[in-house]
This record gives sequence, C-alpha cells and structure tokens, in this order.
Amino acid sequence: MNATIVPIGPPTTPPSGTTDAEAVLSWIAKRYSCREFDGSTIDPEIVDAIIESGLQAPSSCNQQNWHFVAVSDTAMKKRAREISGGNHHFEFCSVLIYLCFQKGWTHDKFSVVQSVAAACYQMMISAHLRGYASIWNAGIGDTKAIAKMLGIPPTFEIQGALCIGLPKPNAPAVKAPRRPRGEVWSWNKFQRPHYAIYPAKPAQEYPFFRITNSKNPFAEWRPRIWGWDRVADFRGYSVWAKSPIAGVYRSRRQGDATSVEVGLLSDVPPGSRVLDVMPWGGTHTTELIRKLGPEVEVDVAELAQANLSFIQERLRQEGISRPVGEVTIKDGHIPLASDSTDVVTMFQVLEHAPEPEKLLDEVHRILKPGGTALISVRNLLSLYGWRYLRTESKASVPNQGPFVPMTAGKVHAMVTRRFRIEREIGISLRAEADAAVYEGRLTRRMCRLFALRLVKP
Ligand SMILES: Cc1cc2nc3c(=O)[nH]c(=O)nc-3n(C[C@H](O)[C@H](O)[C@H](O)COP(=O)(O)O)c2cc1C
Repeated sequence: MNATIVPIGPPTTPPSGTTDAEAVLSWIAKRYSCREFDGSTIDPEIVDAIIESGLQAPSSCNQQNWHFVAVSDTAMKKRAREISGGNHHFEFCSVLIYLCFQKGWTHDKFSVVQSVAAACYQMMISAHLRGYASIWNAGIGDTKAIAKMLGIPPTFEIQGALCIGLPKPNAPAVKAPRRPRGEVWSWNKFQRPHYAIYPAKPAQEYPFFRITNSKNPFAEWRPRIWGWDRVADFRGYSVWAKSPIAGVYRSRRQGDATSVEVGLLSDVPPGSRVLDVMPWGGTHTTELIRKLGPEVEVDVAELAQANLSFIQERLRQEGISRPVGEVTIKDGHIPLASDSTDVVTMFQVLEHAPEPEKLLDEVHRILKPGGTALISVRNLLSLYGWRYLRTESKASVPNQGPFVPMTAGKVHAMVTRRFRIEREIGISLRAEADAAVYEGRLTRRMCRLFALRLVKP
C-alpha cells in the first residue's frame, strides 16, 4: 500500500535544518483522534512498521515490559467493540492494538504504565506520519473478556487499545481545543489560573490510585463550590472526549426523553428568535432545530467557546445546514438584550448552574413578555434521585460537569416566582431509559425528569 510518509531523514541524524524539523513537528501537531473509520483493511507490513516505531520509545530501566497484540480480524474487532461498550470505532478501524504490560513488575510511580504510554504515542505519531488516523482508548471494557478472546495470561495487564485506520471521507477532521500555554505549565514554580484548578473535597492527601470512574471519594459535585468560571472551563474541554459526530451523547438513561422534553414546545411562528441555553454537546439542540421551521432564528448559549465549536460541527454532521448563532454566558449573565427573545429552552441545565436563581432571572429578563421558556430538571425526589445519592454521586464528576438534581417542588417554587406555568409534566418513574409522561399532581413530581412550559407574564 502506498502510504504518505513525511520524510524525516536518516534515523541517526536529526532533520537537516530547522525547516525540516518544524515541518515534521507541525505535521505531528495536526494529529487528532479519529472515531469514524472507513473499515478498510491495512497492509500487515505497515502495522509491523508502526509497532516497530513504538518499540523505540523509552521504557523504565529499559526493561520493555510491554506487550502489544494487533487485531485485524473483523469478527474479533466486532467483539472488541461489544466488550468496550461505547467505543464503536473498535469495529471499523483497520487494526486494533491492545496495549499490555507484565504484572508484578514495576518501579515506583507506575513506571511500567508510563512506558507503555510512551510506546503508544510513538505508534500514533508513526501512523500519522504514514497518513493514517488513530485513537488511543482506555475505555476497553472488561479486561477478562479481552484476555479470553486473545489468550492473554493473567500475569499481563491490559491497559488500553490503539485504533489505527483511515477516516471516513466525511468524518469530522477537527482537533480538540488545547489550553493556552500559560494555563498548563510554568517556569520554576507552580502557577495555574484559578479557573483551571478544579475543586476536590477537603482531604489530608489525594492518593490517585483510589480514584476510578465509578468511585471517587474526592469528587465535588456541587456546582456552587465550582463557580461559573471553573464549570465553564471543565465543560468546554470535556465535551471533546468524543468527536462531534451525528448521534454522539445520546445516552441510554435519557432514552426517548429528549423528544418528550422538546415536544413540550408548541408551534413557533416564523421570525421568532429561539435560544437554547447550555446544551453542552448539542443533543437537545439537534432535536429542537429539527422541530423548528426554517424561518425561525436559533442561537445557542454556552459557557465556553469550545462547546459552541463542538456543537456547530455536530450540527453539520447531523445534516443541519442552517446558521446557528453563538452566545457566550459569562458568570451566569446571558449577553442578550432584555425582552429580545421569543423562546428559551434549558434542558437539564439548572442543576448544573452554580447560581440557578441568577440563571432563571436572566432567562426571564431576555424573554419578551408573553415569551415561552421550556425547562427540565433531573428530579432528586425520584428513583433516579435515589440512585444519584447512593451511587452516581460517589463517582467522578461526569464530563458535562458537576450537578446536583433538584426536587420538583423546589423547581416549581423557583419558577412560579417569575413565570406562569402553562404545562407541567413528569417524565419516567424509572431511573433510566423509559420516557413515559405523567401528568397527575403527585406522580409528575416523582419522575426522573420534571419538565415545564412557562410563560413570561
Ligand atoms: C489515556 C487515554 C485514554 C483515552 N480513552 C479514550 C476512549 O476510551 N474513548 C475515546 O473515544 N477517546 C479516548 N481518548 C482520546 C481522547 O478523548 C483525546 O485524545 C482527547 O479528547 C484529545 O483529542 P485529540 O486526540 O483529537 O487531540 C483517550 C486518550 C488518552 C490519552
């Protein structure tokens, strides 16, 4: 196969001048994670060369205690995808390289893990220079199932998997935003801006090996403690944990609830102005826009530009070509004129807000008299709320940012101080997936989601 490779000169001599080195480095800087592969096959010799590049990485005490298993068999890649749960790209990449190391053998600071990481990144660069896309994955799923599939002995740890292949022609070729330099490194002493240091529960020490996705004793879930600037920072970078592709961030828990929330909207006349507030990855925005006529103007308001860029590309990938305006919320203030907006939608947002009352004030302010607000909230007084308190809130803060569900009663009291309630429903008595609607006085306040259509008097 004819793969593009950027020439870097003989291996023993550095590139002949700064220009060559800069060219290679700027090509390397263009690497991005691909999650939409075209399913094509790859020449085993290219895989061999890529892994060989990885073997040139440094390793702790030069022990090279790593092991890599390359999988190109279609059925095995499909099985790998099933085991991983969410990483559909495992099935469609050309080769999946499991990253392993020998257990019972490491120096301090998990040096063997650091060594495998170095090799993995060197393979990614090698693939990129050869014209291939890649993605590194820790989300591999049950390692026992992988060990069984590949015959990996129990003394070898499976740490992650690297996918390599060619992107689908229309896959988003976008790079996740990088922090500006002053935020993540400093000369001679630690310096980092306040908004980029996330809160953790007070503790004597923070042993990181006690932290997993599902259990994090130090996780701070209260947005009030984070404040607007840190919530903005976190949500903006974390949304890029996935690519802005169609269908991304549709969750099992949410099921069809998005359609029900958006369905609360009655007809919006042409010429109206609609603002979708803090939709993070744009899942609700997609559904909302599909419901609106072409003559309606739609803006999206988020806390960070990084979310807005993600949402724009995601809408493009969803086949939505109409222009969507961008609004950046700062410290809970929505920079739009008072009485300027016909409809505001705010789905599962209040519980993420460091100052929910201030946000509601802002929604009220920007709405025209007679304008509509659609609001939904995760309800604390529900089966889901119970699960949140018992298990979910014991885990690490999710990529959407910290949140605490609110009781339907509290939300009701908050909105009646500002709006007239036109419709009030509960969505699902179950903790996840189902989207049945309940309108009874008691039951609607015991559902997973509490949703309202409000009017500014
Ligand atoms: C250790 C590690 C584990 C990762 N695991 C996953 C994963 O399981 N699934 C996924 O879609 N992306 C995963 N990623 C990719 C990151 O989301 C990605 O590198 C990051 O968003 C930056 O984007 P970029 O690689 O396009 O620059 C992982 C990256 C690293 C370094």
